[in-house]
Amino acid sequence: MTDLVVRRLLIDLEAPLPRHWNGGDAFRTAFFNALSMSFPSGEQFFIDSVRAGIQALPPDRRTAFEAEARGFIGQEATHRRIHALFNNHLARQGLVNHWEPRALARMREMANAEVRTHLAVTAATEHFTAILAEYLLTIDAPLAGAEERLQTLWRWHASEESEHRSTAFDLYRALEGNEYWRVRIFRIVTWIFITDALRQTMHNLWRDGTWWKPSTWAGGLRLLFGRDGLVRRLRTPWKAYLREDFHPSQQDDRPAHDWLRANAHAWRPVGG
Ligand SMILES: [Fe+2]
Ligand SMILES: [Fe+2]
Repeated sequence: MTDLVVRRLLIDLEAPLPRHWNGGDAFRTAFFNALSMSFPSGEQFFIDSVRAGIQALPPDRRTAFEAEARGFIGQEATHRRIHALFNNHLARQGLVNHWEPRALARMREMANAEVRTHLAVTAATEHFTAILAEYLLTIDAPLAGAEERLQTLWRWHASEESEHRSTAFDLYRALEGNEYWRVRIFRIVTWIFITDALRQTMHNLWRDGTWWKPSTWAGGLRLLFGRDGLVRRLRTPWKAYLREDFHPSQQDDRPAHDWLRANAHAWRPVGG
């Protein structure tokens, strides 16, 4: 079992965000803004899935998962709160969140699906957040030039995603979720996640007025296909999920622990 600490982040999120807060790069900013827009509704879904997963276990097997589930829920609830504050700044900048209503509609459609399906979707998305987390914690390029409080915000979230990467997966297994659906749902989630992220990034660029600038697309090519870009860096860890002997704990979580230790001044344990 993983001991999950819920942390309060000690950064000022009242101060406005510069429009191109991510190193002055319009595409990189629009992409991370898009991800942030998906978090409040997505993370609520993860919380609900894990809660329902615990309830679906026979009472004598719940105790083994309860502490970790509490930590998971606390961490995701904090992420939701902080990203909602971040997203308020984006709304004031004139950006419109189209991802959230699409995600909420899909959640309504699958409301009656069994809990294992919800957990498979959660575990699949958590693999995405975990590999994205390792990327943000080990490579400077995606957040290069972002002001310190925003680097802290994204790397704190990344570290906790890395810490709780196994929770939904283990619950899915404990409820005898099978391999076929685990991988099948992962492929579907991959498609939906990538298209939603790109669509929202495009919307953001359009509203931002930087759609027509060549520098925007140069930044986009770098982030997506550059040497330290998403496609090159995430393809191999993405594929790992397809293996039958995959477990999230196989992923290296040292970058997360190192970051949390080196940045202990930026957070306090809740209740500590
Ligand atoms: Fe999160
Ligand atoms: Fe998460």
